[in-house]
Amino acid sequence: MENKELLEKAKEVSKSAYAKYSNFCVGACVEASSGKIYVGCNMENASYGLGICAERNAIANAIANGERELRKVAIYSPNSELCFPCGACRQVIFEFQNKDYPIEIVLESKGEPVTYPINDLLPYGFVL
Ligand code: THU
Repeated sequence: MENKELLEKAKEVSKSAYAKYSNFCVGACVEASSGKIYVGCNMENASYGLGICAERNAIANAIANGERELRKVAIYSPNSELCFPCGACRQVIFEFQNKDYPIEIVLESKGEPVTYPINDLLPYGFVL
């Protein structure tokens, strides 16, 4: 799917963000190697540490649907020009990388998609 479309879906799902405590809304849309897409938004909690990021929710959705390899992760926040994934999400994204196809992180800058390979955002990610 085109990066612009992935960002549109991330934008749409950011409207569902449950960001009652930070007011920082995030939507994520992942494209799996099957070509299917999965979305997620951040979900906070009164017990702050239980909150989860949009990216990990989208990835959990993909995994629950049987996916094991991701191609792209688009991230959008109405509160930030370039919404980079946090460190924890970078490691989770890294887990589902196909060795022949570095996962592309798709962000929006000035209304246009910009991409970063996950390996640039997380060099030397942890592997077992
Ligand atoms: N957040 C995400 O959903 N993704 C990120 O990569 C960065 C942070 C969320 C977590 C929390 O609900 C809010 O943004 C503020 O940190």
